[in-house]
Amino acid sequence: MKYVLGIQTGHDAAASLVVDGKIVADVAEERLTRVKNDSSFPLNAIAYCLDFAGITTEDLDAIALPNEYLHPSVQVFFDISDKQLPKEKRSIQSKLKGKVLQYVMNTKRTDTVLPLYQKPLKISPTCQIILVDHHKAHAGSAYYTSGLNEERVLVVTMDGIGDSSSVTIWKGEANHLEALRSWGGEASLGWFYSNCTEALGWRHGSDEWKTMGLAPYGKTHPGALDGFHPVFKDGELVTPHEYINGGAWLDHSAYHYHFDDAYSLEPIAMRLGREDFSAEAQRVFQEQTSEIILPWLERVNTRHLCVAGGAFLNVKSNQDIWNSGKLDTQWIYPNPGDAGLAVGAALCVYYEALPDHKHELLHDAYFGPSFSNEEIQLILDQRGLEYEFVENPSSVAAQDLADNKILGWFQGRMESGPRALGNRSILMSPLRNENKDIINRCVKYREAFRPFCPSMLYEKSTDYLINSRDERFMVTSFAVREDKKAKIPAVVHVDGTARPQMVKHSYNPRYYDLIKAFGDITGEYVILNTSFNVKGEPVVCHPREAIRCFFDTGLDVLILGNYKLTKPRAPQL
Ligand SMILES: [Fe+2]
Repeated sequence: MKYVLGIQTGHDAAASLVVDGKIVADVAEERLTRVKNDSSFPLNAIAYCLDFAGITTEDLDAIALPNEYLHPSVQVFFDISDKQLPKEKRSIQSKLKGKVLQYVMNTKRTDTVLPLYQKPLKISPTCQIILVDHHKAHAGSAYYTSGLNEERVLVVTMDGIGDSSSVTIWKGEANHLEALRSWGGEASLGWFYSNCTEALGWRHGSDEWKTMGLAPYGKTHPGALDGFHPVFKDGELVTPHEYINGGAWLDHSAYHYHFDDAYSLEPIAMRLGREDFSAEAQRVFQEQTSEIILPWLERVNTRHLCVAGGAFLNVKSNQDIWNSGKLDTQWIYPNPGDAGLAVGAALCVYYEALPDHKHELLHDAYFGPSFSNEEIQLILDQRGLEYEFVENPSSVAAQDLADNKILGWFQGRMESGPRALGNRSILMSPLRNENKDIINRCVKYREAFRPFCPSMLYEKSTDYLINSRDERFMVTSFAVREDKKAKIPAVVHVDGTARPQMVKHSYNPRYYDLIKAFGDITGEYVILNTSFNVKGEPVVCHPREAIRCFFDTGLDVLILGNYKLTKPRAPQL
């Protein structure tokens, strides 16, 4: 087995290509269609993955699908014969289940048909179609990227729900995942947190960042949210919660779930105040997550933890687990939501076929499209834009940041996952507190309480952070040292924490050089890094989207590859 294509259909559709056990391409459909959380069949993402590797669908050894059922569209798009289907999926009942699910998800008709302009993608007769349970795919994304081949590992997945599970527990050992426990929707802490998010007027399934960002501004009210969430004790579910009247809201081609709990929670949010309500939701989530994970660490007898699933985007909860002192390793897959399922399914298929092939630690997440200088210049010329060629973009950018300019930074392959990691980033100096307000107000167009994160040199990270570890993906927060809080105020949240990306030269030389040059000028080896987009839009992928964002926001400077564009500062800045 060499080529495995992972395909996530549904919420956060994505495709990923694994070659000889390594991720070589991975992109969410939203980045290519510009529809946030796009749930369309990911034709564009599939095409990118295959183009990058220089192969066609006929070269694939396997297609990995993170679902317990076969979505009818997969069979139609790939022209899959009944003989190639997994045995358990050939039954009439199984096919009916897929069609009913498609109908329920409001696709309006039960048969997927291809228009004339969409030819079926041919696969070889030997290509295997393999279904991987949703949570197993989450578990695989975490475990098979951890590099923990020799150790015994606890693997935990948590989300709203997927394939009838919301929380699953696994033991990873000797390149193999063993299922230990799972719970269904009645145990969903993800749904609880999302219901609280909806009660605050935000989207279930995409705006949970806001609840988490607002929480440190409030105080907790233990007991105020009793009856709205499941209760775990010592690693077991002791009080299930019945989520009633669930449904999906189709919003610009993306599904957002809704439960009636949101209606009941809204008056509590109004009574407590938004900040206190967020703080209590966060407290409950952290308390319950700890009640699951910490006892299972003891049962599995390990100090190594791997996690994935959308619930692990909660960086404060991740920090809470780390601060328990019960871990030597906390590996959080950097794309833990459902867009990471394509990777997880493909890795599970590969390593179950070849268990003796040891997996490797993931060093970076630059798996998306890139554009050469020649391509960028052509795009700029086609638009008649003025620009200059800069020999050393890192040092030029560092000086602009030291001059407190707001910089669009577009380099190399786009990141997979929700974080900007220095290739599709908006950057600014962290030295002035007002900079976060400037970016929120004039560039991102979003709420004033939303925090910003630092990118820092790895070797300087202990100068700034307490009880930290090598963390490259902005997936957890750490306390900031008291003497540094006033030095880098724009990247320290109100609770005194920061969610860092630590940068080593080998991971991203150009970005490392930028931070180092900024530190050589200012004395602080830290910059403010936020994703290159405005509120509600996917992160930019193509240079034209970066150019559009540059001219549509208060950005001062745009550096695309070696090309630099500038414009006068907006008066309100
Ligand atoms: Fe999930």
